[in-house]
Amino acid sequence: MPNEKLIELLDKNEKIKLGGGEKAIEKQHSNNKLTARERINMLLDEGSFFEIDAFVEHRCVNFGMEKKHFPGEGVVTGYGTIDGRLVYIYAQDFTVIGGSLGEMHAAKIVKVQQMAMKVGAPIIGINDSGGARIQEGVDALSGYAKIFYNNTIASGVIPQISVILGPCAGGAVYSPALTDFIFMVQNTSKMFITGPNVIETVTGEKVSAEKLGGAMTHNSISGVAHFLDDSEEKCFESIKKLLSFLPQNNLETAPVKNVQDDINRIDEILNDIIPENPNKAYDMKDVIFTLADYKEFLEYQPYFAKNIITGFMRLNGRSVGVIASQPKVLAGCLDIDASDKAARFIRTCDAYNIPMLTLMDVPGFLPGTHQEYGGIIRHGAKMLYAYSEATVPKVTVITRKAYGGSYIAMSCKELGADMVFAWPTAEIAVMGPDGAANIIFKKEIDEAEEKAQKRKEKIEEYRNQVANPYTAAARGYVDSVIEPAETRKRIISSFDMLMGKRVLRPEKKHGNIPL
Ligand code: HXC
Repeated sequence: MPNEKLIELLDKNEKIKLGGGEKAIEKQHSNNKLTARERINMLLDEGSFFEIDAFVEHRCVNFGMEKKHFPGEGVVTGYGTIDGRLVYIYAQDFTVIGGSLGEMHAAKIVKVQQMAMKVGAPIIGINDSGGARIQEGVDALSGYAKIFYNNTIASGVIPQISVILGPCAGGAVYSPALTDFIFMVQNTSKMFITGPNVIETVTGEKVSAEKLGGAMTHNSISGVAHFLDDSEEKCFESIKKLLSFLPQNNLETAPVKNVQDDINRIDEILNDIIPENPNKAYDMKDVIFTLADYKEFLEYQPYFAKNIITGFMRLNGRSVGVIASQPKVLAGCLDIDASDKAARFIRTCDAYNIPMLTLMDVPGFLPGTHQEYGGIIRHGAKMLYAYSEATVPKVTVITRKAYGGSYIAMSCKELGADMVFAWPTAEIAVMGPDGAANIIFKKEIDEAEEKAQKRKEKIEEYRNQVANPYTAAARGYVDSVIEPAETRKRIISSFDMLMGKRVLRPEKKHGNIPL
């Protein structure tokens, strides 16, 4: 080959690798941000990244753009491995015209989206962009629309992970919103539809970018994001951890880890975890950590709707999704946010063949006009829908309260739970003993001389007769009442037993989940 041809290639490659140039890279670093290529190299297995479409160029001729070249078109795309498993990736390069998205930038992303779907491997998108490339006008909007379309087609087929490592504003936020998981980093990530300046102009309200659309805002208030870290490096570690719980696509199961943790372990600590006083809280996370292999649990949305806990653990090395009431927050009541969080997580697990463990201690749906006006009826219905729709193995453990509609919404037998266990402390009833006694024994209580004493007696009577696990177990709604200490052993055996579960459903275009 003539030497000048090789030199030309090497020279082009060198220019592309430098992105927006040394000055822009320095600016990126001074903002405590890595460059697109540094991010890819840090996230993927060393030396595993292969770039695609590095030579792509824009075709815009507006505003003198035809004279400008943007190395890599402001986005680096390709594939590589994480822990030896194939992933597709794109990382917007803020050093090149602010990572803004034009027609060809979008085409690069769409190409890796389609390859990931064809092959059946996860795709990771690193967002760091000024949004639609203003000079390109409608071509940029068309590019976004193509990405959204492919996000939707890929949904439930391959895991899609969005990482927000810079600005992500306007309609650009909708690609991450259509994916399965959103990661954000404190002080680096920003997501909003309209930024602080527009808000101030339109409404007069003053708000900082961080408070409006920073990592903690979307992890704790809006529920848009699912994971939060305080550095890019830690964020990449979290992504690797998450991927270890996920299959490559919807036709596979998650990898099984070889674990030595005893599957017959008896956890005496669980026999004493429920307080004597049924109105006293305990930390359901203690139960989760005790049951899990090596006490490891990756929490999903740990800062949002803390009255319900969601996340991934392993049981006998197998990935399991956990949905658990948290008696420590709002007494574990279900509300709008908790229903949304749980329903979304349940559907994510079901889409990717991850069996589910539900830990139930739920006194009801949260009362109040705020909840009713906010549509708790349609939000709560999402949980009923998601559990009923899910065909993966489902195991439920009722640790204490299981009252009314919330008992049903937390995966009871009739919604399709394959195995339901109850601890001896379980109280399964239409409502709590206090409320029930006040209604059905009202006359007797009102007529008694010692009203308070009578009420106490009647509450106790109700609890003994109805609010226990044995009435439900006598009818087969509960498969077994078990000693809390042997829970790990029983749920592992259940998931093993359910490995070959098959469910056939009537054919339909798609269901109509209440939104
Ligand atoms: C073209 C852009 C750009 C954009 C940034 N740049 N955003 N070029 N289109 N959308 C360019 C800048 O001109 C600059 O070029 C370089 O990228 C770096 O930007 P700076 O402003 O110097 O960086 P910084 O100070 O860090 O500010 C970052 C920023 C700001 C806050 C993101 O650039 C900004 O406000 N950009 C515009 C954001 C925006 O309104 N986007 C459109 C959103 S609407 P030079 O040559 O000077 O280095 C949208 C609709 C999507 O996205 C609809 C989808 C359905």
